[in-house]
Amino acid sequence: MPVYILGIESSCDDTSAAVLMNNVVLSNIIANQQVHKDFGGVVPELASRAHQQNIIPVIDKALKNANINKTDLSAIAFTRGPGLLGSLLVGTSFAKSFALGLNIPLIEVNHLKAHILAHFVVEPGKEKSLPEFPFLCLTVSGGHTQIVMVKGYNEMQIIGQTIDDAAGEAFDKSAKILGLEYPGGPLIDKYAKLGNPDAFAFAKTNMPDLNYSFSGLKTSFLYFLRDKLKEDAMFIQNNLPDLCASIQSAIVSMLMVKLKKASEQTGITEIAIAGGVSANSGLRKAISDMQESAGWKVHIPEFQFTTDNAAMIAVSGYYKFLEGAFADQSVTPYSRGGI
Ligand code: KG4
Ligand code: ZN
Repeated sequence: MPVYILGIESSCDDTSAAVLMNNVVLSNIIANQQVHKDFGGVVPELASRAHQQNIIPVIDKALKNANINKTDLSAIAFTRGPGLLGSLLVGTSFAKSFALGLNIPLIEVNHLKAHILAHFVVEPGKEKSLPEFPFLCLTVSGGHTQIVMVKGYNEMQIIGQTIDDAAGEAFDKSAKILGLEYPGGPLIDKYAKLGNPDAFAFAKTNMPDLNYSFSGLKTSFLYFLRDKLKEDAMFIQNNLPDLCASIQSAIVSMLMVKLKKASEQTGITEIAIAGGVSANSGLRKAISDMQESAGWKVHIPEFQFTTDNAAMIAVSGYYKFLEGAFADQSVTPYSRGGI
């Protein structure tokens, strides 16, 4: 009998609901929140209010697009954390009451594990090679930068991570310094395509072991621009593509150095990337190039599964469903925590 899972994601500023039949996605609806644009970042209180407005229409649409009735659902999976507490509460409360009302199991999902398991979401009629265990996953999002050793669907170990800013923050903060809108990562990527990555050099930090630090790079970028703007007030306007290409290249090269080191140390050449920053064209190219140069077998997610989405929550729920790993009604969200 097929298993139908409804996944609910509300950890940050996207309200999303998806329906999967086993690991095949039938619908994946995402409502982005525009209210944060004017503030240069996500405003937690506004985010949770927008989730409250969005959640019912988004779930309704996910069920309709999947062409199933709520009574067909086998279980409900939701993001328990980490994320913004007020946002997580909306999804968690809805999932708990819906599961209670339908008398079906409730499954709690870790958002970071879900970004990785997004690789196992299959689209109807599309061929896809799934990662084989064990593999390494570079998870790069707005809140996290981690190298994870993935031994099984529910067996993961962080072997390296950032001690300060996440890679997505490095992109977003650099974009902010350039006067670009939030979230700036996709805009840096867009302008970088027109620029020279070797035009400018910034101080890259090399942390011990497999760890990262991005705050020094941001400061180096800020001071570099402050000095240049003293000489030429139009420096940013006149050099935007080169600035974007150079800062993107610095972030990507820092990410790759530690990922290569992790592969050498563990002997694992099955490599995946996940999270919002895995949409970055520079990072996607750098990873793909490693197929030829180092014999890696790489897994690059479809764009729609890179940023926050509920299909990744539902697929994580599916693998927990198979193990009978259910949550009870006393479950509460958590804002921080690893994998
Ligand atoms: O995974 P995600 O949607 O949310 C979190 O869980 O944080 O990641 C969002 C992050 C933001 O920092 C955004 O700027 C970044 O992913 N991002 C990108 C690109 N697309 C999204 N960064 C660089 N290049 C992109 N193309
Ligand atoms: Zn995320």
